[in-house]
Amino acid sequence: MKPPGSTLALEAVLGIERPILGAPMARVAGARLAAAVSGCGALGFIGGGYGDLDWIDAELSALDPSSIGVGLITWRLDEEPAVLDHVVAAGPRAVWLSYGDPTPHLETIHAAGLVAVCQVLDLDSAVAARHAGADVIVVQGSEAGGHGRPGRGLLTLLPAVVDQISDIPVVAAGGIATGRQLAACWQLGAAGIALGTRLYATHEAADSTAAKRRLVELRGDDTMHSTVFDRVRGPRWPEGYTGRAATNSFVREWHGAVDDLEADLARQRDRYAAGVAADDLDVRVLWAGEAVDLIDDVQPAAAVIREIHGEAADL
Ligand SMILES: Cc1cc2nc3c(=O)[nH]c(=O)nc-3n(C[C@H](O)[C@H](O)[C@H](O)COP(=O)(O)O)c2cc1C
Repeated sequence: MKPPGSTLALEAVLGIERPILGAPMARVAGARLAAAVSGCGALGFIGGGYGDLDWIDAELSALDPSSIGVGLITWRLDEEPAVLDHVVAAGPRAVWLSYGDPTPHLETIHAAGLVAVCQVLDLDSAVAARHAGADVIVVQGSEAGGHGRPGRGLLTLLPAVVDQISDIPVVAAGGIATGRQLAACWQLGAAGIALGTRLYATHEAADSTAAKRRLVELRGDDTMHSTVFDRVRGPRWPEGYTGRAATNSFVREWHGAVDDLEADLARQRDRYAAGVAADDLDVRVLWAGEAVDLIDDVQPAAAVIREIHGEAADL
């Protein structure tokens, strides 16, 4: 069912058996989740996020780095390029760069013989990343959990990117949690998919049982894009980025009133920190995408991957 010319094997480029990537969810995708995803023939990424090297080293020491990839936030690497040198020296199979222009960092990744996966949020960035030398493009629609931009749905963005890029694998991300969606992405020309929110609701994801249970209960309509959590948590993101998370009392209170939040920042930071310490989901962030509509239970990650791949192959 894969359309011709569009699906240069992701499996061959990354040395995997299933065309599924476990997204690099900061702090949530640690060694346990990444190892479980890679262990069943897909490729798990640990979420290196802003580049906390103590955390990254601890996770990498718990597994064979060549069996997984590491995700890093590109605009943070612009500020601290040494983080990328450190990660590359550890020898992961691939580095996934998100949120920013990957161009200045690709040489470091390629010089070490690693695969460069570049996540993009729009068509121009996809074409630019391809020209800069990306090995794999991940197209993320605004349905996705975590950071991104509101506005571009995957159903239009994915085929538009595939029409422009036919010589490297294009991977679909955002709102995907089922095999029938993988089959649909194949039809639209994707070589595979990346899963974030669906893998958050697994035994191996690093968060509380209550947080994972909430993911099962939530509907896509109960998630929203906002900058509120970035303002209260820091660091400050570049203009234009927002993050999709569960709509709770904290974000409802401050969304549309971020200037008031800034004016009361010290107090709200204390309140937020107390919410984190208490695992209070009405205060703390729960990054989640529209795929929560399609998540019915918390499962082992390998079961999720096998079910999605099996259903898509049957279709
Ligand atoms: C909890 C969470 C944390 C995330 N953290 C990161 C991150 O640190 N870096 C990154 O590139 N993407 C991050 N993302 C986005 C994922 O890489 C991925 O593109 C997205 O989750 C795909 O959409 P989905 O959640 O609908 O599957 C995160 C997503 C979630 C749900």
